[in-house]
Amino acid sequence: MHTTRHTSGFSAYLALGLLGASVMTLGACRGDRSDEPPRRFFPDMDHQPKVKAQTSSKFFEDGSSQRTHVDGVVAFGSTAHDPAMLEHSEWGGTYLEDRASMLDADETYAFGLVSGTTDQYVPVMPVEVTSELIERGQERFDIYCSMCHGYDGLGGNSGTVGRLWSIPPANLAQDARFLDRAGAQGSDGYLFHIIRNGLYTEDGTIRMPSYGHAVNEHDAWAIVAYLRVLQAASNATMDDVDPSVISSLGAPPAAESTESTDGGEG
Ligand code: HEC
Repeated sequence: MHTTRHTSGFSAYLALGLLGASVMTLGACRGDRSDEPPRRFFPDMDHQPKVKAQTSSKFFEDGSSQRTHVDGVVAFGSTAHDPAMLEHSEWGGTYLEDRASMLDADETYAFGLVSGTTDQYVPVMPVEVTSELIERGQERFDIYCSMCHGYDGLGGNSGTVGRLWSIPPANLAQDARFLDRAGAQGSDGYLFHIIRNGLYTEDGTIRMPSYGHAVNEHDAWAIVAYLRVLQAASNATMDDVDPSVISSLGAPPAAESTESTDGGEG
């Protein structure tokens, strides 16, 4: 009894071993060159019956593989949008705004370029700066830029992601290059362009990712407006403060306590 069990156990191992060896041999066929059609032990879905567009088929009486539309049916995604229908829906309103501004857009609004040029950026944005625009810019900056450039825009180590980024993020609030609207990197149009397109070296290496997929034109201008606020806040002196409110401000904080509020991590 005991011997029989032992023998059957042994032959099971033998069978397993042979199976393993044959699987390995078959595996070796992969990648070998041959004129024969490839053997497919596990065809997965390499081949499957289907009809291609504009081919004939024996399945339908008329011999065509395609069917004609049922009267009155409109293919998904191919209908013209009816503005009247969208106006009253919550999501439709913003869609219509986006669409209207896209149709309206000129190269200044869409690319930050001086009209008729391909590389000259406008010093001043083509959008009216309102407190709403600035607030929108702050919200978008906090979402899309602060993790690298810091909530204060100071760059360097002030953002949690920026700290680990291979290149130190620029100091957008204080670096003189970005303060001068007449300079190559300080114009509103150039800042807009960087937000939408990012920054790459000539060989295509990424230095800063582009945000065009997430930040539309309107929001990119809003962020530029907010960058000016960060710059003003960062470079302000007591001379910039309205004299009528100075007395109500109280004493400036001691040097140490300003140092210790490095809240960049947010
Ligand atoms: C993933 C990190 C990261 C994010 C997010 C990011 N940046 Fe940057 N940004 C960088 C780095 C790094 C540099 C410096 C690149 C260099 O020195 O070449 C930079 C540089 C810049 C510059 C200077 C361009 C120049 O010509 O030197 C501007 C302006 C700028 N960023 C604006 C923004 C704005 C606005 C946002 C948000 C929409 C943003 N960045 C989001 C990493 C980031």
